[in-house]
Amino acid sequence: MRMYDIIEKKRNGQALTKEEITFFIDGYTKDEIPDYQISALLMAIYFQDMNEEERAALTMAMVESGDQIDLSAITGIKVDKHSTGGVGDTTTLILAPLVASVDVPLAKMSGRGLGHTGGTIDKLESVPGFHVELSNDEFIDLVNRNKVAVIGQSGNLTPADKKLYSLRDVTATVNSIPLIASSIMSKKIASGADGIVLDVKTGAGAFMKNLDESKALAHAMVSIGNRVGRKTMAVISDMSQPLGFAIGNALEVKEAMDTLQGNGPEDLTELCLTLGSQMVVLAGKADTIEEARGKLQDNLHNGKAFDKFKRFLMSQGGDASVADNPDLLPQASHKIELPAKSSGVVGKMIADELGTAAMMLGAGRATKESEIDLSVGIVLRKKVGDTVSEGESLLTIHSNRQSVEDVIEKLYQSIDISNGNVKAPDLIYGTITE
Ligand code: URA
Ligand code: CA
Repeated sequence: MRMYDIIEKKRNGQALTKEEITFFIDGYTKDEIPDYQISALLMAIYFQDMNEEERAALTMAMVESGDQIDLSAITGIKVDKHSTGGVGDTTTLILAPLVASVDVPLAKMSGRGLGHTGGTIDKLESVPGFHVELSNDEFIDLVNRNKVAVIGQSGNLTPADKKLYSLRDVTATVNSIPLIASSIMSKKIASGADGIVLDVKTGAGAFMKNLDESKALAHAMVSIGNRVGRKTMAVISDMSQPLGFAIGNALEVKEAMDTLQGNGPEDLTELCLTLGSQMVVLAGKADTIEEARGKLQDNLHNGKAFDKFKRFLMSQGGDASVADNPDLLPQASHKIELPAKSSGVVGKMIADELGTAAMMLGAGRATKESEIDLSVGIVLRKKVGDTVSEGESLLTIHSNRQSVEDVIEKLYQSIDISNGNVKAPDLIYGTITE
């Protein structure tokens, strides 16, 4: 087989065979095929697309390029959730203990990552003592006993994806549905879950800014998962404004704790119930979505979900008294209100811009080496569709800097107050099962 022929075939719009796909992924992982040939192929895929069979083959070739996590020692159907990423997305912190409270095992491998705030692990580390350095045996044992544990990324998962992603980044080929879908799904499949619930975000703060693209990505990922034998479904949810009120690491932990006690923001609670009930059904712990939702809702109000969260913190060395006394979480030294400049209805709160403001305060990482300030961030007091009077606070800035003029300027640019009628955006745009 020659790489040249594979590039030419795709350039001409033909479908590649599983053998051809495995050939170029293997060869690239082993450094036997040069970047320039893979770059040309990526650009051909960008323009000519891949059919569903090719996408599944590409995903599995990437899965097989490295280690795969074996979760077979965990009893029950293991379901994982993946979000395509947004601003102030606290759902994992809530969903993990929530679904565990109805006996769905959640073996979560998570990262730190770059972005507006840290990843799930950074957020959890704002609880004093909490750690994710577990051996594989400890991890499996914790999931069997408590139904929930989080471990840091370990092993050599999907090295082909790492190499391809870096190359796509510098060859203008990131934004391609077959390449994004296979990249995300390869990592999920290598992590060992039997079932996968995807939260595909749409809007300004999302990877996919418009609904049609978000639906296409959701279909692509669901099709890959189901073709390779993992029960997969997707929910498309709004990311035009931030989810919930809090953007920031410790601030989101507090928001998660409120939500787990039934006192969370309406949108965040609703999204967690929607995704959670799909996970419960996939795991076979309820027959219908309605039944699953009822169980989860009960546990938000009867203390079981919150209790599970405390046990989860303790089981990984965390100080669970934080749950009853959130003041023990890292606190920023300054709290600054942002007054509305006029009266009206909040028309826009552009999610990615607000995320950038949180990052300017130190809540996120720009490069792998950046330090995160767990205490800082933003807590919204208003969301799109809310009425506001001049001078009333739109949000609170939690900062360790005394002067935040740059952040304030950014925030005013990201928020629009309208005198017309503005409705809150829909939260859920659809559910995709094939
Ligand atoms: N996230 C990923 O993991 N891969 C992509 O290709 C895009 C977003
Ligand atoms: Ca939030």
